[in-house]
Amino acid sequence: MLDSFVFYLLTVHGKGDRTYFISDRSLSCRAKEGSMSISKAASSNADTITKRLQIEHLLAPTLSPDNLSDGSDVIAGLTQTPKSLPARYFYDDRGSQLFEQICELPEYYLTRTETAILQKCAIEIARITDICELVELGSGSSTKTRILLDAYHQLGFPLRYLPIDISAGILEISARQLLADYDSLQVHAIASTYELALQQLIPKKLPNRMICFIGSTLGNLNPSECDVFFSQIISALNSDEYFLLGIDLQKPKHLLEAAYNDSQGVTAAFNLNMLHHLNKRFEGNFDPTQFEHWAFYNETEHQIEMHLRSLLQQTVQLHTLDLTIQFEKSETILTEISRKFDLNTLQQDLSSQGLKPLQVWTDPNQWFGLLLCQLQPSA
Ligand code: AVI
Repeated sequence: MLDSFVFYLLTVHGKGDRTYFISDRSLSCRAKEGSMSISKAASSNADTITKRLQIEHLLAPTLSPDNLSDGSDVIAGLTQTPKSLPARYFYDDRGSQLFEQICELPEYYLTRTETAILQKCAIEIARITDICELVELGSGSSTKTRILLDAYHQLGFPLRYLPIDISAGILEISARQLLADYDSLQVHAIASTYELALQQLIPKKLPNRMICFIGSTLGNLNPSECDVFFSQIISALNSDEYFLLGIDLQKPKHLLEAAYNDSQGVTAAFNLNMLHHLNKRFEGNFDPTQFEHWAFYNETEHQIEMHLRSLLQQTVQLHTLDLTIQFEKSETILTEISRKFDLNTLQQDLSSQGLKPLQVWTDPNQWFGLLLCQLQPSA
């Protein structure tokens, strides 16, 4: 177990310094860029970290992010016309790494812009919510959450954080990094799907609670999935509790298309990696070199659509699903939608469902929006 390791704090000095809380066993494989410095974390610190960390597993032990689905979603998507695949298959280890790289790309303004907004308004959020525990859906590396934790800390409030992520490994590593950096923080991490975690949230231990869904992941849901998601948020919150939502806004087509067709080809690699993932997961024989990345802005639906386009007529098999798929030349598979929102329309939608927007922040270009909503008592 982690407790028996020697822990180090490793700081990679680059564009933005990054600190990793790691064990001696993983030391050799970190830090590819820039210089680094290593300091040994006090062992007493490791003890208090363990006391302040709880990890709850809501998924059956045999389930992992990789085998959450039995593949029926792949069969359904690839046997319909037009073909599609669930965006969840982007995220094997390589896909998650590629997504992290996307977030740093010059064309991918979303992460940078949301971070800048958070830096500007975090104190205001903390003042509005007062003492409040943070629940984060899809917490990943919890990088942006630190901005909020800093604000609550600055106001002298107790810190309690409930990150929810499908990957138990990432949850534990990120939670331990946070606990090493915030002495008074308590973390209750939940390894689960959003749906299950929202249904089974334990009662809050601080006077208030805020569910955070940042990063514009809402945009990857279609309108009916979005409605279901909002109703799950509403059931998980008590009256007067908060919902913090980060969303990408509508903007000129060329800016959007550049963000999903970056010049270094990272988004293309991310998209094509889905085929490698399917090959691994379902013993497939997709040849990713026989497909190309295609992303465009659908101005009618206000969404980026990412596709994989077959470069020739071909037949592909996924053996464990007993599935044979025929592709025509130029036939496409829709792999993701990324909706871009109109702030006024979204605010009206949220209000009509009982999630009243209290405050909205944007950047000077109005490219990205952060909405702090509060659940209204039902009439
Ligand atoms: C995770 N999600 C918000 C990203 C987006 O922008 O819709 C996923 C992504 N797809 C391509 N680039 C980034």
